[in-house]
Amino acid sequence: MKKILVTGGAGFIGSNFIKHILHCRDDIFIVNLDKLTYAGNLENLIDCVDNKNYVFIKGDIVNDELVKYIFGKYEITHVVNFAAESHVDRSILGSEIFFRTNVIGTNVLLENAKVFNVEKFVQISTDEVYGSLGKDGLFKETTPLHPNSPYSASKASADLAALAFHHTYNLPVVITRCSNNYGPYQFPEKLIPLMIINALNDKKLPVYGDGKNIRDWIFVSDHNIAVELVLERGKPGEVYNVGASSEMKNIDIIKLILEQLNKPDSLIEFVKDRPGHDRRYAIDSNKIKIEFDWKPSFKFQDALKETINWYIKNQNWWERIISGDYLQYYKSQYTDRTVI
Ligand code: NAD
Ligand code: TYD
Repeated sequence: MKKILVTGGAGFIGSNFIKHILHCRDDIFIVNLDKLTYAGNLENLIDCVDNKNYVFIKGDIVNDELVKYIFGKYEITHVVNFAAESHVDRSILGSEIFFRTNVIGTNVLLENAKVFNVEKFVQISTDEVYGSLGKDGLFKETTPLHPNSPYSASKASADLAALAFHHTYNLPVVITRCSNNYGPYQFPEKLIPLMIINALNDKKLPVYGDGKNIRDWIFVSDHNIAVELVLERGKPGEVYNVGASSEMKNIDIIKLILEQLNKPDSLIEFVKDRPGHDRRYAIDSNKIKIEFDWKPSFKFQDALKETINWYIKNQNWWERIISGDYLQYYKSQYTDRTVI
């Protein structure tokens, strides 16, 4: 039986990962360590509470004493580190917590993984560590790191720490670098859920700059199947890019959302650009496709529809969120969302 410490499992991707594993596997015991920041939500995991192969612990990955206790008590054999501060805009407003959680927290996990001789440490990273592309080209695993935001700089730092632990101590570290995810349970500060919810509420849809920035989108379950494969078969010291070759301009996604919700384009509002806004991300996933026969199953337009329908059906989930911390955040942010 594998005993996996999943960190950040109450967030968007981590909660989808835990549900996927508990649904498909009975040879894996999961300890979910999550600090329950504004982005962590135990409602995402309501189906798992009675599962005999699952336990939740509220806590911080920076807390070395707690992390040590968990590795010992549960005889952890594997780590999947999703825990992070994950939003670029928040990192621009204040970077400290990003370096604390994403770098120091990862280091605490690496140190304990070394002491307890884990069999595999999967570091969940992002394509944003590569920086921004021009019109052509794709990020490969060999593309030099060139992070541009405090968020991506903190994730790149964690990647380097993880690779150094492999090089120095032979810790079996594997890194995934995935493109932008979307799907159920994504916190409504990220582009797709924010636009869906604002449109449902007939609120303005703030588009940064000219709206022509490009992201390469992947449905969350396609990402998580790749993570499971890397957990099983990833070679220590290797990096695997994960993406679904679905490049889209932000403005085109927003128009698709409005069309499906039968809302007018007049809700679109062009606002001041994000400082240091990366222009284009696009990812080459040939390595994971060739080595592990992975391929994405979901087409962007179909999975976007599925996602929109999820937010329509799960209004209670996001209403509780937008009436709390998120709303305060959104209001404070909005002062900088100058309409252009
Ligand atoms: P999220 O913000 O939805 O969830 C993050 C989770 O981590 C939350 O449950 C939060 O409570 C928890 N957390 C934060 N700080 C913690 C700490 N100090 N200790 C323990 N738990 C803590 O993020 P997400 O979108 O699910 O992203 C998960 C991971 O995937 C992150 O590492 C992110 O960098 C990476 N990633 C995300 C995307 C994307 O499009 N969302 C793309 C590529 C990679
Ligand atoms: P986001 O979901 O924050 O992900 P990331 O910055 O990590 O790629 O943003 C995706 C794109 O959407 C990015 O180009 C910024 C843009 N965007 C807007 O135009 N308006 C918004 O309100 C948000 C949140 C993002």
